[in-house]
Amino acid sequence: MRPLRDVVRYCVQPILHKQLLLISPIKLFILLFSWVIPYLIFANYLESCLLPLRVLCYTQSDLLSTEPRDPDFQTCVDKFFPNRQADPENCKLDKIPDVLIRPDLPDYPTRILVIRSGPGSLDYRNFIRRTWKKQVDKLVPVVFVCATSKNDTLKIEANKYRDILQFDFEDSYHNLSWKMMAIYGFVIDQLPSVDQIVVTNDDTIVNATALEQVLHMKKGPVMLGKVSRGYPRIFLPWLTWHVPSEMYPNLCYPLFVQGSSFVLSKEGAKLLVENVCKVPMVHLDDVFMGVLSNCVGLGLIHNEGFDKHIFDDFVVYHYQYSRHSAKYLESLWQNSEMSL
Ligand SMILES: *[C@@H]1O[C@H](CO)[C@@H](O)[C@H](O)[C@H]1NC(C)=O
Ligand SMILES: *[C@@H]1O[C@H](CO)[C@@H](O)[C@H](O)[C@H]1NC(C)=O
Ligand SMILES: *[C@@H]1O[C@H](CO)[C@@H](O)[C@H](O)[C@H]1NC(C)=O
Repeated sequence: MRPLRDVVRYCVQPILHKQLLLISPIKLFILLFSWVIPYLIFANYLESCLLPLRVLCYTQSDLLSTEPRDPDFQTCVDKFFPNRQADPENCKLDKIPDVLIRPDLPDYPTRILVIRSGPGSLDYRNFIRRTWKKQVDKLVPVVFVCATSKNDTLKIEANKYRDILQFDFEDSYHNLSWKMMAIYGFVIDQLPSVDQIVVTNDDTIVNATALEQVLHMKKGPVMLGKVSRGYPRIFLPWLTWHVPSEMYPNLCYPLFVQGSSFVLSKEGAKLLVENVCKVPMVHLDDVFMGVLSNCVGLGLIHNEGFDKHIFDDFVVYHYQYSRHSAKYLESLWQNSEMSL
C-alpha cells in the first residue's frame, strides 16, 4: 500500500523523530495512530468514488447489454475503439507458439482443465497436486500451463508429474493474453476431441462436485463464469487495474467474465482465436476478452459459484484482492469437508 507507506514516512516519522522525547506516551500513542482514520476515510473515498461511476455505468445501456454493440463486427470494434486500429500484422495472439513440454493426457479427452501458472510457482502447483487435482482429474484432466523464465526447472518437474504444458515465450503478466490464446489454439489444433476448456488460476480451489454439475451447460459459443456488469474503467493511475483512456476510451466496460476461472466451449475458443487480432489490445485480459466476446457474439453465462471469495458453496474459490499463499489455501482445504 503506497499511500500508507507515504503517510508513515512523511507524516509520522518526522514527528516521532523530533518530538519523541518531549511528549507523553498517550500523545505519542495518539500520534502514532493518527494516520489510521484519515487513511480509512481516504481508502473508503476511493471505494465510494467508484460507486457513482458504477451507477453511471448502469445508465450506459449499450455496455450493459448481452447483445453486441453493433451487429457488424468491424463497426462494433470501432465503437469500442474510435481512436485505435487493430494491428494484425504485428499481432502474435492467433499464432500458436512452440510447445516445449507436453503433458500426458488420456486418449480422447472431451474436456480439459488448464491452470495458468508461472514457472516459479512450484509451491502452488504442489498444493494443487496434493489437494483438489486428484478429485478433479477423475472428471477433467488437469494441466498446468507455463511459459518460460530464465533458469526454470520445469523439465524436471514435468518428468516427475507429467502434468505440465509449456509454451516457448516469456512468462509475464503482459503476455497473459498470449498464454490464453496459445492454450485455445493448442487445444483446437492438437486435441480435437476436447469440447470444453476449463480455465483457472493457480491460487484457486476447485470443487469437483460443483464443477461436474456446471459442465452440463448450454452448447454453442459460450463462456461461463462470474459475469461482471457495469464496471467503470479505473482511470486513477496509482490503482491496480488502471487502464488509460488512450487504450480504452470508454468510461465503462462491457460485460466480461472474471478471468480467474471460467468454462469456455470449443466453438467459443475458435471465435476468440479467429478474431483476436482484429481488435486493439487491452492489457487487462478479462476486459479484453469481454470486448472481443461482445463483438463476435460469444454468449456469457453467469454463475455465482466462480471466482467466489467466500469458502462456501463455490465451484471455484479465489480471492481477488491479494494472492493467498499456497500454505493458506492448503489449510483452507485441509479444514474443509472437501479433504475427506
Ligand atoms: C538458477 O537456479 C539455481 C538453482 O535454483 C540458482 O542457484 C541460481 O541462482 C539461479 N540463477 C539465476 C540466474 O536465477
Ligand atoms: C512476451 O514474450 C516474448 C517472447 O518470449 C518476449 O519477447 C516479450 O518480451 C514478452 N513480453 C512481455 C511484455 O513480457
Ligand atoms: C461443493 O459443491 C457441492 C455441490 O454443489 C456443494 O454441496 C458443496 O457445499 C460445495 N463445497 C464447498 C466447500 O463449497
